Amino acid sequence: MSEFDVDRIREDFPILGTKPNGKPLVFLDSASTSQKPRQVIKAVNDYYENYNSNIHRGLYSISMKSTDAYIKSKELAAKLINAESYRNIVYCRNTTDAINIIALSYAEPLIKQGDRILITDMEHHSNIVPWLMLARRKKAVLEHAALVDKSFIDMDDFRKKLENKPKIVAFTHASNVLGTINDVKTMTKLAHDAGATVIVDAAQSVPHMPIDVKEIDCDFMAFSSHKMLGPSGIGVLYGKEELLEETTPAIVGSDMIRSVTFESADWNELPWKFESGTPNIEGAIGLGAAIEYLNRIGLGRIRQHEMDTVKYALKRIGETEGMNVYGPGSKDVHRKGGVISFNISGAHPHDVSTIFDTEGIAIRAGHHCAMPLVNGILGQAAVSRMSFYLYTKQEEIDKALDAVEKVKRVLRLDKKR
Ligand SMILES: Cc1ncc(COP(=O)(O)O)c(C=O)c1O
Repeated sequence: MSEFDVDRIREDFPILGTKPNGKPLVFLDSASTSQKPRQVIKAVNDYYENYNSNIHRGLYSISMKSTDAYIKSKELAAKLINAESYRNIVYCRNTTDAINIIALSYAEPLIKQGDRILITDMEHHSNIVPWLMLARRKKAVLEHAALVDKSFIDMDDFRKKLENKPKIVAFTHASNVLGTINDVKTMTKLAHDAGATVIVDAAQSVPHMPIDVKEIDCDFMAFSSHKMLGPSGIGVLYGKEELLEETTPAIVGSDMIRSVTFESADWNELPWKFESGTPNIEGAIGLGAAIEYLNRIGLGRIRQHEMDTVKYALKRIGETEGMNVYGPGSKDVHRKGGVISFNISGAHPHDVSTIFDTEGIAIRAGHHCAMPLVNGILGQAAVSRMSFYLYTKQEEIDKALDAVEKVKRVLRLDKKR
């Protein structure tokens, strides 16, 4: 595919041809979950129809085929983020699960009473609550770096809090509310210099831009298949090999075991020691197909398309009365992913979302699992959010802006001003 042809890409996504409420689906909620191309659906179907079998244990051909497909998926995931090998790739359920695995296995024995854990004010609950619970269990202190302009991490505050020598520093690569893309390479370097282990929540970055874990140098990274065209129920925990080696798994049994007696057990080699029980095999195969799809289109080109889309959307919003946008603005699109949170003056975000739905437009409204950010920093009970992906068209932004006018008409907002 030489030019970035959105119409051609959209043909691969059957759901984009559907008409909920009799109107063509305008799906502007990809930050929540992405749509799936035929290639992914086909790969999952093919597994079920032609070689459904458990991995590892079978000495018959379809089991060997499913084992090969599972490992190939991991090799693709490793290559996608430039990890050393598939030994660095643990499959789990999703980003939330991956962060919990690190908190419960790696960090649990590390953190002692009075130790510090540092996160930021723009984290998703998935990168807050596991650390909050760990801090509570260990009587440790959970700190959070502030924001500037309600948009960017305050690097002075981040540096200042690193002076307290946190043992764990965890931050998001891209905010699911503000869209802000953080300079995770610099943040990792600073945290390492302070002696911390670094965890990057890459749920909103791996699906949308080229990622290189060697360049970032983070110790762990977490992301979800369902946000990157793959099936739900499967996610990726990347870890540096020496850290994964030294970590005792928290969840044990089945394939993660090398040998067991009634007195002792020891663990399988990496990455299997973190995968207890039969894994999500069809999910892994679907994720592999999703990564192949993303590679074919090119993540650099996807990032550019989303940047163009955000630029266009911000321009249109700027021309529209009564809209407040949260997060980086037009001059900072190079630091913003395909996410725009907004409110319409006088309208509750739930009403906005419901009225958008009457036009076939799917957006999300609420706290977006980032209550400290949305309720605290932004001071909003809820915000509306449009989010984009490789299949988003500019004319869909136009439809969303038409829907904003409909919101104003239906709620008689012009009369109230
Ligand atoms: C930044 C961020 N972190 C973590 C998550 C949690 O992802 P999952 O629900 O796939 O575990 C999300 C989901 O929206 C997210 O946006």
